[in-house]
Amino acid sequence: MSSAEKTPSLRFRIVAVALSAGAVIYLLAGAAILSVTWSFLSSEYQDFLNRATEDLAEEYSASRGDVKMMRQFFDEDIEEHGADRIFLMLTDREGKDVLNACSDDVIRHTMASRARRGLSSYRISKERNSPHRGRIILRVKVKTLPDGFKLSVGHNVTADEQYAIFLAATLGGAFLLSLLLGGWAADWLARRFVRSLKNVSDAAERIRSGDWSVRVTPSLESRELRMLEDTFNTMCDQNEKTLTELQTLTDDIAHDLRTPLTRLRTAAEFAAMGGELKRPLPETLFEQSSDMLELINTMLEISQTGCRIDRTPREDIDLCAFLREMAELYSTVLKDQNLSLELDLPEDAVIFSGHRGRMQRLLGNLLDNAIKFTPCGGRLSAAIVPGKDGVILRVSDTGCGISHADLPHVFRRFWRSDSSRSLPGNGLGLALAKAIVTSYAGTITCDSAPGQGTTFTINLPLNPCTG
Ligand SMILES: Nc1ncnc2c1ncn2[C@@H]1O[C@H](COP(=O)(O)OP(=O)(O)OP(=O)(O)O)[C@@H](O)[C@H]1O
Ligand SMILES: [Mg+2]
Repeated sequence: MSSAEKTPSLRFRIVAVALSAGAVIYLLAGAAILSVTWSFLSSEYQDFLNRATEDLAEEYSASRGDVKMMRQFFDEDIEEHGADRIFLMLTDREGKDVLNACSDDVIRHTMASRARRGLSSYRISKERNSPHRGRIILRVKVKTLPDGFKLSVGHNVTADEQYAIFLAATLGGAFLLSLLLGGWAADWLARRFVRSLKNVSDAAERIRSGDWSVRVTPSLESRELRMLEDTFNTMCDQNEKTLTELQTLTDDIAHDLRTPLTRLRTAAEFAAMGGELKRPLPETLFEQSSDMLELINTMLEISQTGCRIDRTPREDIDLCAFLREMAELYSTVLKDQNLSLELDLPEDAVIFSGHRGRMQRLLGNLLDNAIKFTPCGGRLSAAIVPGKDGVILRVSDTGCGISHADLPHVFRRFWRSDSSRSLPGNGLGLALAKAIVTSYAGTITCDSAPGQGTTFTINLPLNPCTG
């Protein structure tokens, strides 16, 4: 059995906690009700017993122990309170019944025997015979009179005690009922709550077994659960997107490596069979392996620039001077292709703290593309616009442009428009440019219209916090 199976289920815990809390509260409230009721009832009959005993004791003293007069007082009390409510008895020093007003033999015998035992108060609970059937409960107070006689006054508390028992039984019954109802309600709630969690867990399990299309149907149980489900679904969307991208990327890499490898193998096969190659094999070998190396290096550069924080020291680069140097570097190619490059630079230096090599790769890729996709006689321009918090770099051309449908894809690794597949390249230049700009916490955008040229706009913060 796994440790997860040994742990009690959430549903069980919720029900157990709800029931325990409910039971404790109920028991405390029940005990409070019972004790208040009982102390009220007992104070009532205690008062009654005290009053009756003291009155009769006074009358006994006033009549100097006259039994005949006491008989009269007993009769008056019986008349006033009822023969089944009050029970009176006078016993001598030996405990012999001298006078009594007891309507019941069982009570009379019990009171006489208890008086002999010298108790000052006690409780009698007896089953009676006819004419009164059923159980009778008395609270009896015994007062020793000055001459040693004992006056016992009993009060019928059967109704009071039965009421207390009834109350306790009712509270007990209600307790059991509320335990049942509370348990059912807690279980109902817990099941709904757990169902949402289980949906998420089932979906995660299905994803683990390879089904990435699974999503959780949002429930309406609670805001927090809804948030969990939404977050889970968003996470699944992102994971699926990343996975698809990764898959496409792997396919693209495999595809782009296959072409130079096939060329190499064909050349090697042909040479092995003794065929005469147009170009010497070492030349082909060098060229194709350079292509592959270039592709792999660029891939590595993209992933390193995009994923890792570069700790290498930065240097202050004057972007205006830097762009002039780049223009100088490209002057021969531009001349060869009959292209012009216009620079629009501010008078003052624009200092950016970065890596010279990376900035060369960034602007180099944009200029390479501008040159590659602009026909002879076209115009290229590069501008720097300093701002308060950052600097804008713009590279434009009057080349073939990019269609509106293709624009969202230009920064994707290995993406190339259909028309540019015949030209050299791997479709990695712009992906690298984007990774470099992102590493400086900047942004890069592309505006283009087919036949009208393309503009890449880079926004670099002057105090980048990453990279
Ligand atoms: N200035 C531009 N004008 C027209 N199309 C462009 C321009 N820049 C990029 N593109 C389009 O975007 C695609 C991707 O550009 P990217 O620089 O990433 O790849 P590439 O130039 O084809 O190859 P690589 O840069 O790896 O040598 C290009 O193939 C082209 O279709
Ligand atoms: Mg390129």
